[in-house]
Amino acid sequence: MSAPRLVPLTPDTLDEAQRRLYDAVLESPRGQGGTRRMILREDGTLTGPFDAWLRTPVVGEHLERVGMALRTDTVLPADARETAVLVVARAWSADFEWWVHGMVARAEGVPEEAIDAIGHGRRPSFDDPACQAAHDVAFELVQRRSLAPATLERAREALGERALVEVVTQVGFYQLVSGVLESFHPPGPSADLPVVGPPSTTERAGIDLYEAASTTRAVRRLRPDPIPDDVLQRVLRAATWAPSGGNLQPWHVIAVRDPARKQALAELYRGLWSDYAADRRTLIERLPEAMRAAPTRALAAGDHLAEHMGEVPVINAFCFHPERLHITDADLGRPSVVGGASLYPAVQNLLLACRAEGLGCVLTTLLCSREKEVRELLEIPEPWATAAFVPIGWPVGGGHGPLSRRPVEQVVFGDRFGDALFSSDPEEAR
Ligand SMILES: Cc1cc2nc3c(=O)[nH]c(=O)nc-3n(C[C@H](O)[C@H](O)[C@H](O)COP(=O)(O)O)c2cc1C
Repeated sequence: MSAPRLVPLTPDTLDEAQRRLYDAVLESPRGQGGTRRMILREDGTLTGPFDAWLRTPVVGEHLERVGMALRTDTVLPADARETAVLVVARAWSADFEWWVHGMVARAEGVPEEAIDAIGHGRRPSFDDPACQAAHDVAFELVQRRSLAPATLERAREALGERALVEVVTQVGFYQLVSGVLESFHPPGPSADLPVVGPPSTTERAGIDLYEAASTTRAVRRLRPDPIPDDVLQRVLRAATWAPSGGNLQPWHVIAVRDPARKQALAELYRGLWSDYAADRRTLIERLPEAMRAAPTRALAAGDHLAEHMGEVPVINAFCFHPERLHITDADLGRPSVVGGASLYPAVQNLLLACRAEGLGCVLTTLLCSREKEVRELLEIPEPWATAAFVPIGWPVGGGHGPLSRRPVEQVVFGDRFGDALFSSDPEEAR
């Protein structure tokens, strides 16, 4: 907790209006039972937003009543309500709000995994559609400052109009509370009741490197739900850690979130994909029946991405400066690949970081063939050029999983081309 910015007002210093608010807070249900200790210090001063509101007691009284009405006079189920409050507390990193409402959420039956997911900025998966709807509405409002039509309709269906309006109002109210907390940093109630804020946003997602690398596959079915800014920054920071020739880092990423630009990229992509997919379909038809299932599934996922590319939350366009590549194979009379080695490690770092965050993603390059149009659309100056486009978002289904790759025994040679380094005979390998 940061240092307090207001000296808490003790009861003996309050004027009449302030005293009215003070009493109202302590006489309300939040001032009774177990929660009283969380809002009242031993010296009689108030915690949370209430001490700040004592400075404007009439407004504070109204706000106190709104807060209570949102808790007691609503049809929104208590677990859905607390879910929405936690989303707001997480977005604001509002320690006190997270702490108090974490306890209330647990008491109201919000599952621990859901609280953990919200704390880490991930989308929890609820069995209860009301909690899911409350979460999704709150998440979109705080992250995107708007509500997508599909989310609104899902929430209307799950909650009904009254509870939907209540959850939206709830989000607004707790943003106000968060703003007060973040402005004035009120101290917690006591040393033996320490305020525990949401998990650090710079915390590493705990996944084993080998597990991440062996499950980072193309995930092309992505939800439109937004990615919190801190998560996006984290995965893109991982991209910047990649090596490059001479450490020149000859690339930039344009994280495209603007709906109009995403749609324009998606339209370009759709045309390119449909030509590519037609060729792939012909090739698949020529395969023996038994070998068609996996590529057919991948193609269907590709069709899905092509149809929905404009709806993914972020398309990361990797651009590079051709004059800043140290290309050692330019004059060999074959396609040069070394230039790409200063770019694609960054893309792979991004893919792995997305994997660690539970975000789906896929490296795509089809759009590079339409560089002229992309340049215009994303205002990329000459001589910067395009290298890859990585749509990322929360997976619709399970997301990442096992890979289908040639085994290391076939891929790796020892000392000379063609001599396997590792035996594929399990007896020999032992
Ligand atoms: C250089 C490169 C370009 C790719 N371009 C596209 C693309 O334009 N569209 C797409 O859907 N997938 C694209 N992919 C993803 C591959 O199709 C995918 O990684 C491959 O089929 C293996 O699938 P898996 O990663 O799911 O195991 C590309 C991958 C690479 C490495």
